[in-house]
Amino acid sequence: MSTQASGSCLRILSGVQPSGKLHLGNYFGAIRQHIELQRQGECFYFIADLHALTTIQNANELQANVRDVALDYLALGLDPQRTVFFRQSDVPEVTELAWIFATVTGMGLLERAHSYKDKVARGLPASVGLFFYPILMAADILIYRSHLVPVGQDQIQHIEITRDIAGYFNHTYGEIFPLPEYRLSEAPIVPGLDGKKMSKSYGNTIEIFATGQELRKKVMSIVTDSTPLDAPKDPEKCNVYKLYCLLATPEEQQELAAKYRAGGFGYGQAKQMLYEKLEGYFAQARQRRQELAREPGLVDEILRRGAQRAREEARATMALVRRAVGLNPPP
Ligand code: ADP
Ligand code: TRP
Repeated sequence: MSTQASGSCLRILSGVQPSGKLHLGNYFGAIRQHIELQRQGECFYFIADLHALTTIQNANELQANVRDVALDYLALGLDPQRTVFFRQSDVPEVTELAWIFATVTGMGLLERAHSYKDKVARGLPASVGLFFYPILMAADILIYRSHLVPVGQDQIQHIEITRDIAGYFNHTYGEIFPLPEYRLSEAPIVPGLDGKKMSKSYGNTIEIFATGQELRKKVMSIVTDSTPLDAPKDPEKCNVYKLYCLLATPEEQQELAAKYRAGGFGYGQAKQMLYEKLEGYFAQARQRRQELAREPGLVDEILRRGAQRAREEARATMALVRRAVGLNPPP
């Protein structure tokens, strides 16, 4: 936060890819802090549909996912009166800035990016777009001259790359961009069903809006060890307990930990408790989502207004950038 220009409002920005149903990792790692931060600064949150093109190449699927993510965020507490909420692709200036950044960025910086290597190792095609991804992300952040970027742990390197790119640009053309900082949530790595980081690409997720049998089945499939029912268990080593702690009060956490340690308490019982907690925790949001989904045109209207506001900012930045690099204003 130290890079914030004195007197200016704290500009907070984050993006989420519309690449599938949002899960507990997304919620506790990112979305919850996005919602909380709405009271602490001027927030810009967007749906990163241009980034999603690196994985989704089906127009209908992309459209449906964008709408789903928008409804999810609104249902979980995003307030469009307070926060600028928009689609990344509705601000085309961001791709122009990405190109300009590409011309001041060395190949080595991108070659060191873990996310590219991980994604290719997991079987995603090694497209130029996937390699270029961090530059587009830098443009997303810097075009709104953001100070703070709330993300999960896996995005830290992208913010570091963004700071490097801002530095290269400022050094070459003069100080235009503040160096943004990341902010991690209290749950930077939420474990999935198998204990690895919860992620769509590992197929180990529990969706935020899952309910009933679907939710129960997921919870019951959480991997636990083979300690017999009667034996005492170590709560800290159990994924069910770790997930329960995200939802429960400190007293409830202590109570469950004591049951584990006492023995005679099985993982099945802990799973049932986690299932019930999840049903209750997101009940209101689920209800709200159903209501929002029934209002025709609501999502489009909110995203349209958000894009208008975001675009004003983007254009103002691009006017400075074009002048600095020697390009004319667009006719
Ligand atoms: P996924 O890994 O499922 O593809 P994304 O990469 O789209 O998820 O992540 C969107 C946001 O949610 C990012 O800020 C990311 O850091 C956060 N996030 C995703 N999974 C987790 C997790 N298991 N724990 C904490 N944060 C997470
Ligand atoms: N790469 C981020 C993710 O996968 C999404 C994203 C795109 C983003 N642009 C951003 C996040 C700018 C923060 C700021 O989660």
